[in-house]
Amino acid sequence: MKKLKAEDIWFTYTGEEYILKGAALEAPAGTVTALAGPTGCGKSTLLLILAGLLKPQRGRITINGADLADILEEDRSIVGIVFQNPDDQLFNPTVYDEIAYAPRTLGLPEQEVRKMVLETAERLGITHLLDKPPYRLSMGQKRLVALASVLVYQPEILLLDEPSTFLDKYGLGKVEEIIEEYKKTNKIIIMATHNLDMVLGHADNICILQDGKTTCRPREKATIEWITQTSLPIPSYMLKLIKTCSGRGA
Ligand SMILES: Nc1ncnc2c1ncn2[C@@H]1O[C@H](COP(=O)(O)OP(=O)(O)O)[C@@H](O)[C@H]1O
Ligand SMILES: [Mg+2]
Repeated sequence: MKKLKAEDIWFTYTGEEYILKGAALEAPAGTVTALAGPTGCGKSTLLLILAGLLKPQRGRITINGADLADILEEDRSIVGIVFQNPDDQLFNPTVYDEIAYAPRTLGLPEQEVRKMVLETAERLGITHLLDKPPYRLSMGQKRLVALASVLVYQPEILLLDEPSTFLDKYGLGKVEEIIEEYKKTNKIIIMATHNLDMVLGHADNICILQDGKTTCRPREKATIEWITQTSLPIPSYMLKLIKTCSGRGA
């Protein structure tokens, strides 16, 4: 895996109004790309397109130069997406079955499936939930189960839609561990997020989606003002710091 590339992506749900009007991004292996932008600008839509679940009316998505659609036909497990709303993802009777679902569809023997499920659950700290029905869980627990159900097959490209919502410090720590692990193992993460800490802490590239188009910058060339210009809330402690610094003429 070298690079995921989206070029000149146009998309409309209705056939009239275009949500994406020439969006583009490049995500090289071993990097995290943060996708920011106002609510309703099309972040989730773009992630669904990158996952091959929606087809753009125009534009091209390639992995190492080859069409994503052709690659997915050969190997569906190369891309995994964790939806914005965990309720859209979870449909099995128990958490165990939820995590086992993808390896079972890949036709792996049950003994191997069990090993994968237990390892993944352990990694995300959700072993105690394995026998529970997903609908009984809290949103934060559902988020971790949804992540586990994708992580279990180790997709080369992991798409995370607002991964920090619903999570407490522990859950967030687990997600952050996974993100860093992905980087180290030369895989690709693209995450839509409104969380400035996630952007500053983990993103190598930042893309802002607005009016259907993306503007991307490497982290080192992105100022806080640029990152937060459209939608990202600045935490109050940071605002205080900025005010204090500017008060000192810094
Ligand atoms: N299935 C759908 N059918 C019609 N319109 C949709 C559908 N899903 C999303 N939209 C619309 O597309 C726009 C972009 O939505 P979305 O990609 O969810 O934005 P974001 O994730 O940035 O908040 C919104 O105006 C939303 O209402
Ligand atoms: Mg969204």
